[in-house]
Amino acid sequence: MSMTAIIGGTGFTDLDGLNIQREEILETCWGAVSAPVLIGDFHGHEVVFLARHAPDHSLPPHKINYRANIQALKTLGVNRIIAVNAVGGITESMDSGVICIPDQIIDYTSNREHTFFSDDFEVTNHIDFTMPYDEMLRQSLIQGAIKAKLDAKQGGVYGCVNGPRLETAAEILRMERDGCDLTGMTGMPEAALAREFGLPYASICLVVNRAAGKAIGEITIDAMRQVLVEGMQKVRQLIAASLI
Ligand code: HPA
Repeated sequence: MSMTAIIGGTGFTDLDGLNIQREEILETCWGAVSAPVLIGDFHGHEVVFLARHAPDHSLPPHKINYRANIQALKTLGVNRIIAVNAVGGITESMDSGVICIPDQIIDYTSNREHTFFSDDFEVTNHIDFTMPYDEMLRQSLIQGAIKAKLDAKQGGVYGCVNGPRLETAAEILRMERDGCDLTGMTGMPEAALAREFGLPYASICLVVNRAAGKAIGEITIDAMRQVLVEGMQKVRQLIAASLI
């Protein structure tokens, strides 16, 4: 029986349409999980939902216990993880409101607990991360977007930064030169930890602002919020269509 986990990010702290059957508060050997895990039925599918930033959005990206979150999902027996990420758009096509299913990652984060093998490392723990997202799951999401008649970019490079501040214009230019299409704060180490456990993992990114220096004026949280409300509704539709 397939059990899909959805990790919701900014603007996605609950899963509308999830018929909750139970709620579990989990402690792991890595510490506390971001939020109680909600388990239930979503459009006829067994789904586990976890709010990455806690239900009240009190956990900033660098304080999230990524290891505890992925461990909890593994312990619950999920077979795959769909991550939802709000991001900034770097390349021109990544405008506010665009949905993207990225296919690559560049990790700019530091000082995050980024592996399950920090203490008892074996040579076999060098995971292959050439393709950081699971291609089958990515294709299901792309098909879901097509079925739901939603426009979604079928690939892109996600650059993950520490935050919580947004980038400088020069940092964004450097990320662009590196090949990044998107910038976000939560994609890593989440994706790598899922791979360490052999859990298929893919992400749905919603662009909520043009990245620093890519639009005139300041980046404001109010403007991001407006994009989030409508955009995350579409993300929910995309997930529902891709599970069927
Ligand atoms: N930069 C980094 N993370 C983000 C951004 C951004 O511009 N927007 C939303 N998350």
